[in-house]
Parts: sequence; structure tokens; C-alpha cells
Amino acid sequence: FGAAQVLVASNRGPVSYTVEDDGSLRAGRGGGGLVSGLSAIGPDAGALWVCSALSDGDREAVRRGVGEDGVRMLDVPADVHADAYNGIANSVLWFVHHMLYQTPLEPVFDAEFRRRWASYEAYNRAFAEALAEEAARGAAVLVQDYHLTLVPGMLRELRPDLRIAHFSHTPWAPPEYFAMLPDDIARQVLRGMLGADRLGFLTHRWADAFTACCERFAGGLGNTRIGVHGLGADADFLRARAHEADVEERMTALREEIGEGRRTIVRVDRTELSKNIVRGLLAYRQLLDDHPEWRERVVHVAFAYPSRQDLAVYRDYTAEVRRLAEEIDERYGTPGWRPVVLHVKDDFARSLAAYRMADVALVNPIRDGMNLVAKEVPVVSDAGCALVLSREAGAHEELGEDALTVNPYDVVGTAEALHEALTMGPDERAERAKRLAAAATALPPARWFLEQLDALREVTPG
Ligand code: G6P
Repeated sequence: FGAAQVLVASNRGPVSYTVEDDGSLRAGRGGGGLVSGLSAIGPDAGALWVCSALSDGDREAVRRGVGEDGVRMLDVPADVHADAYNGIANSVLWFVHHMLYQTPLEPVFDAEFRRRWASYEAYNRAFAEALAEEAARGAAVLVQDYHLTLVPGMLRELRPDLRIAHFSHTPWAPPEYFAMLPDDIARQVLRGMLGADRLGFLTHRWADAFTACCERFAGGLGNTRIGVHGLGADADFLRARAHEADVEERMTALREEIGEGRRTIVRVDRTELSKNIVRGLLAYRQLLDDHPEWRERVVHVAFAYPSRQDLAVYRDYTAEVRRLAEEIDERYGTPGWRPVVLHVKDDFARSLAAYRMADVALVNPIRDGMNLVAKEVPVVSDAGCALVLSREAGAHEELGEDALTVNPYDVVGTAEALHEALTMGPDERAERAKRLAAAATALPPARWFLEQLDALREVTPG
């Protein structure tokens, strides 16, 4: 048995290394709720985070034995990781849960898929074995996301004494869509997850879809308990961070790009198919057509940060976002007004600057597990911003009442919602933003994590 009392497992970990020009390694912090969530426990308490080596720097760090306390990076062979991460997790499983397939041609579950699936199994087994090695008797193990669905079942066989949880940060597909997977694979995924004592989801909608899939493919849930934990924004951290000097600097620069006295429609996303950035731009163009009074008086500030660029569809999507933004600028722009300010280089300080300056936040995903941007903007915005929110985002379950709800496919409807948001009176906007911020911070990351850990500690393993 190992020594760790609390273990977290995820593909992306809290730290990532880059090789500097002089050959040294620089550690950067991974972002996200999980990172702040786990810091509530701290390495001293015997917590260990098992994650993948993702970058060349990460692999180099593993080779040199460089690392942080409380973090163990697994360096599975690069080709196995690529097949598991790009070939299965980000293609097949992500596409199924976000319902992204264009079904006349995709998906095709052929021999190549089966080969990649074997890598996905090997990748999950590497995690299960590392966790089995590191965990103390009766330890709590919290496995994260669709990359690691087989880990709970594999780990249960290796270590029946452990308390095992799995949490899904994505939506879950309804059974009629999940049924696209070959039956044996569908069963394997569900049984892998049902190896856990507790399964967590971000919303009731995703939890119910999972339960329905289990009823159809796995004969029900068995002894596994289901919990819904709606991860919220970290108000203290965000408000403090958003007032640091580098954010103020970014605000000055952005103000210059936007121009004096103009309204802002802000969006911040990974350049991700499910985020629906292209239809967001189309809706903005529609707004300029249907309500020409906004021309020269509004700017669409769109930050679309690179993501999963190993996949051709993501590269194509990124290109389409750029093309459309340019087209709108060319068609509507005037000497003093650039209608779309698009940035594609990841910059957290600049994101916060845009949050603070937002009059309207546009969050219109096709489907999204939660969407933390929808929760972060109302907390940070200076004047209180209006939120245009897709009904298909998990966050809509908590924020729906004070947001302007849109069907993400309806470009004309989204344009109207943008118009309504822009014309909303300042008092109503501020009132709504206050209620949005309260709902958005109801379960901050540290409590989100502890809530699950406490629940897990109460179960009898198996
Ligand atoms: C989603 C997933 C996370 C993932 C993140 C970024 O939020 O639920 O597990 O880490 O996207 O994607 P990436 O592929 O860059 O890790």
C-alpha cells in the first residue's frame, strides 16, 4: 500500500513544464476549478494528484525526476497517449457527449477505432496501476472526466479497499445518442464508471442521462450512488486577481482597441466546436443588419484560445472563426471602428480585463457541461453585465432566471437577445448581475471538492 489518503486523477494536471532556451524547465500552473479545489486539502494532508505528462516539457520533467510535492505525472508512451487522448477521448467520447457528430458520415467505428480503443484501455490501466500503488488502505480516490472512465472499474479490481469516485465535467449523452457507440464499448464505459462508489455530475440533466444509459445498457446503477455538484466560480480569487496591475494594463490596451464610449459584447472560450463561436459571430452580424443603430456603437470582443490543435476539425474551426471575424470587419468596419476584436493568444489577465469591461457576455454553446465563463463574468464585471446564455449550457440550470436564454442554433433569436441585452436599463442589468453572481458563487471550488470528499468518506467501499 502507498501513503496517500486522498488521490485525484485527471488527464490534465495542476502543473505543466516548458523547456526554456537554456535547457532549464519552467513550471506553469494549470488553471481551473480543480486546481483551487484541491489546494483546500494541500499536499501536507497526504493528498496526491496523478496526471499525464502532456507537453515535451512534462516528459522531460518526468525523465529528470523534476516534480512538485503532491503531484505524480505519468509518462505513458506518446503514441498510446495520443491515441487515447486525441483518438478516443477528444474525438469519440467528447463528440458523443456534446452530440457533435454530423451523422451521415460520422462516426465510423472500424478496425482503426478498435486499435485506438486498446490504447485508451492501456492508458486507463496505467492510471489505475499508479493509483493502486500510491493509495493508502481505505484511501479516497477522485477520478476526473471522460479520459478516465475505465479507471474506477480497473482500480476496484486491484484495490477493493478503496473509496472511489468519478466526476464528469462534460454533459452526458442521452441514451438514444449514446447508443451510437458499439454495444460492447458502451457497456465497458458504463461498467468502468460503475466501479466507483459515487459518481458526480455538474447538473441533474447530465446525471439523469447517465442513469438512463445505465438502465438501457448496464442493467441499472447497482450500488453506485449519484451526486450532483454544480461547480461554481471562486469569487474571492477572481475579484482579487481582476484588480491586479497586469489586468488594469490590459484594460487600458483593450479600451484603445475598442474606442471610447462603445458597448462591448464579450466572449471568452477555448476554440472549441461545442462553444459555438461561429454562430455567435453570425448572430453579431445579424444584429448589425437588423439594428443598424448599433453600428459604430458596439464592439464584439471575442477571445478564442487555441485548443486541441492536433485534431484537424479543431484547426478548421479555428480558421473559420478567424475568417468570419475578418469578413465582418471588412464588410461593416469604418476608419474609426473595428466591429470585432478577436484575440487568439491565451492570456488570463486579458480575459479578466474583458470580463470587467463587459456590458454583455455571450455564452452560447451547443452543449456544455457547465461553462464557468457564464459564472465568472457576472462576478467580475465592473458595471454589472447582462448575460446571453444558451439553454444547453449546464450553467443554465442555475443562472437561467436572470440570463437572457437562447437556443444556440437560432442565429436570429440570438441576435435579438443581444439587442435586448444591449438595451436593458442599467438598474435592471445591475440587479440581474447581482443575482447572477450570487447563484454563480453558491458552490465555490474548494467547497465543491470537499463536499464530494466528505460524501466519499462516508461510503463503505465496493
Ligand atoms: C474540458 C474538459 C477538461 C479539459 C478541458 C480542456 O473542460 O472537461 O477535462 O481539461 O476541457 O481541454 P484539454 O484537452 O486542453 O485538457
